[in-house]
Amino acid sequence: MRVVILPSENDASNFAAEFISDFINNKKNSVLGLASGSSVLLTYKALIKKYELGQFSLKKITTFNLDEYLGLKPGHNQSYRHYMNQKLFNHIDIDQKNTFIPECFDSNYELACSNYESEINNHGGIDLQLLGIGSNGHIGFNEPTSSFKSRTRVKTLTQNTIAKNARFFDEAEPQPSLAITMGIGTIMEARNILLIGLGRHKSKAVAEMIEGPLSSFCPSSILQNHENATIILDQHAASDLKLNDYYIHAEKMKSKYNC
Ligand code: GLP
Repeated sequence: MRVVILPSENDASNFAAEFISDFINNKKNSVLGLASGSSVLLTYKALIKKYELGQFSLKKITTFNLDEYLGLKPGHNQSYRHYMNQKLFNHIDIDQKNTFIPECFDSNYELACSNYESEINNHGGIDLQLLGIGSNGHIGFNEPTSSFKSRTRVKTLTQNTIAKNARFFDEAEPQPSLAITMGIGTIMEARNILLIGLGRHKSKAVAEMIEGPLSSFCPSSILQNHENATIILDQHAASDLKLNDYYIHAEKMKSKYNC
């Protein structure tokens, strides 16, 4: 695991955007796994800026989003399709027909989930998967105790996740309690992982992910087993790490010796 700790949310997000644009410039037809939520918002903003400055193009990119609420139509203002259009896709040169979201609008959930897995495979798998982290350690909507081998499926959200995301829904509006999410096994097959953790409210989950035991109770801890996982944190999200100073020192050595 590479752990990059930067002073502010902006620094961390700019670093993430640089990482993604470098990645795309090295492989222009990359398959990206994308996340929604607040952790990746500043990164998307920074990516749009880079695109406007002509620093990279997403014309040949294919994207697969991690998750979607079950039952929300694409036009719903809390659907992740709507989020992706508003926060990223509408502002860049991506071909929208190459953007995939795990949606299901009939009750054939199993088929929708297995089709999503097949679509990822048909595109040669995910080159770079972007992730946020829930305050309970979840990735995508893989809640605590999700199997490390799980695949794309319907998942019941925990009360904690529902409460944390309630801020996005109007009070009178019913909030979904189910979602379709890539599984942990699906995520772990991505060739590279980039996780962004911002804010003190993520510090406990971040510490468990990086320094805790491998446990399905903290789903993101599985990333310790990934060969190419980079974790980007602001100093608040990093504040509960025991080896905080070591990670900062290791990054300095990395740039000094270019390794
Ligand atoms: C949400 C999403 C995840 C996201 C995570 C963190 O519920 N399903 O994809 O990464 O939980 O959310 P946020 O970035 O808003 O804190």
